[in-house]
Amino acid sequence: MITTVRGVRDILPEDVPSWRFLEESARAVFSSYGYQELRTPLFERTELFARAVGATSDIVEKEMYTFADRGGDSLSLRPEGTASVVRALIENNRQRVLPWAVYYMGPMFRYERPQKGRYRQFHQMGCELFGAEGPLADAEMMAMVLRLLRRIGVEASLTLEINSLGCAGCRGPYRARLFAFLQTHEAALCDHCRPRLPHNPLRTLDCKGEGCRAVAGKAPCMKDHLCGACADHFQGLTALLTAMELPFVVNPLLVRGLDYYNRTAFEVTTTALGTQNAVAAGGRYDGLVAEMGGQPVPAIGFAMGMERLVLLLEAAQVAMARPAFYLVAVGEAAGRRGLLLAEQWRNGGVPVTMDLLGGSLKVQMKRADRAGARFALILGEREMVQQTILLKNMTDGEQSSLAWNEVGWERLAALIA
Ligand code: HAM
Repeated sequence: MITTVRGVRDILPEDVPSWRFLEESARAVFSSYGYQELRTPLFERTELFARAVGATSDIVEKEMYTFADRGGDSLSLRPEGTASVVRALIENNRQRVLPWAVYYMGPMFRYERPQKGRYRQFHQMGCELFGAEGPLADAEMMAMVLRLLRRIGVEASLTLEINSLGCAGCRGPYRARLFAFLQTHEAALCDHCRPRLPHNPLRTLDCKGEGCRAVAGKAPCMKDHLCGACADHFQGLTALLTAMELPFVVNPLLVRGLDYYNRTAFEVTTTALGTQNAVAAGGRYDGLVAEMGGQPVPAIGFAMGMERLVLLLEAAQVAMARPAFYLVAVGEAAGRRGLLLAEQWRNGGVPVTMDLLGGSLKVQMKRADRAGARFALILGEREMVQQTILLKNMTDGEQSSLAWNEVGWERLAALIA
């Protein structure tokens, strides 16, 4: 038997309602803030990710699905969305009509060690906003993320963490100080952090290794080394979050694993999913557009891990789309009549799941129950003779018999409004 590749999964029909609920909620929230959908290709030139995400980042060094196509070009499956969005902005000249506010959702690919909440093909939905420089944009984006998480009913276990990573001016001197500090504790660092110390000392701050965590706890903090403008930006952001009554914590160890960030970095973490605890993450990347060959344009964005949100939805047992009406028709004549009635109801927009497998009343009602139907519409032998249909509320068991000409779609629609 040929199976799926490690770290890659089917999304089975019973799970799809959670996914759609998530996607539809996100579209509604993102567009209510003025974001438009952008669809970028699943693969790009490898160089795009190397330059945008950073040649020495874990993603580019170890996690990309890179291959040569038949023409000999090096291509990679996208490991994240931001690089492609920046490319699309520049390539399509959108810098001339700022702001440009876009959202995207879809699969991303990283060769990581699979575990709960971490896969090799996973899905992100994210937003990128170009053109806005001040902390208003940062605060609004965080409010939008939290609004979406509230709307889907999973906010209970979540914390918004923020930090500032400074700018090109203040990060250099801080990096040098941090490097000097970490060098004096080199022996305590993990095998992963020690070799990358010279080129990526910041990553030790968010390493999960015990030794690294102990050292990081005593390390100098970026937020104590910010220049005046970066400190003002961060202070502006915290004041806005406080004014909006959005709870947050400042986490000086939040550094992010992609090289393009400056100033604001944020994550929404959960206590409900074990070690893969980030459900949303993002930050500012004011220098990236220019670095990728465009005009300098300030930018901020985030992405959310959809698998992780689906796990949270399941944990929170948020009621997913269940069939509103389940039509049970016993016998051939009832089947034919049922099909016609169901089509009439659907003409009026009423969702009806018809049992097409047939069998006894008992067997079909069992299937209605298993599907989680809110109402069953039953056409049995007696109903066929009387030209009626039995409407059963599956929650409280209450039943009523209605004549065929009384059950127009309006009547059914009113039941589920
Ligand atoms: P990231 O932190 O690499 O950031 O990923 C964002 C989110 O995607 C994570 O917080 C997590 O929920 C989810 N995620 C990442 N890797 C996996 C995986 N292997 N399996 C399941 N879920 C995963 C970015 O990708 C940036 N592009 C975010 C951003 C947008 N920054 C600015 N704009």
